[in-house]
Amino acid sequence: MTAHPVTLHVCLACRAAGDDDAVRAGARLHAALADRLDGRSDIRLSGVECLSVCKRPVTVAFVAPDKWTYISADAVHPDEVIDAAERYAASEDGRVPWRERPPLLKSGLVARIPPQSEPSR
Ligand code: FES
Repeated sequence: MTAHPVTLHVCLACRAAGDDDAVRAGARLHAALADRLDGRSDIRLSGVECLSVCKRPVTVAFVAPDKWTYISADAVHPDEVIDAAERYAASEDGRVPWRERPPLLKSGLVARIPPQSEPSR
């Protein structure tokens, strides 16, 4: 089975203390991720306007077909975001075992959403 690429959504509008309208933490994180992910096809970077977790910049979301979606906040370090995306990609259904999660998927976790294929009760 071929693994689907992970889509990594990054809020471009998230603003850290001291940011002005022109330069925001979300846009800075997105630019740093774009540099690091250039040439990779396993993680697709997507800049979005807002993920509605505005008080905890920067917010990111990990999405892939048939996997749980994870939304995390307080993302600052691009290498940690990529590490989380790689662990998410390697997981069977998006749920990374607790002991293997980076802080972004522990204390930074805001929500997880089941895949469309998840049977309802
Ligand atoms: S401004 Fe980033 S989540 Fe709303």
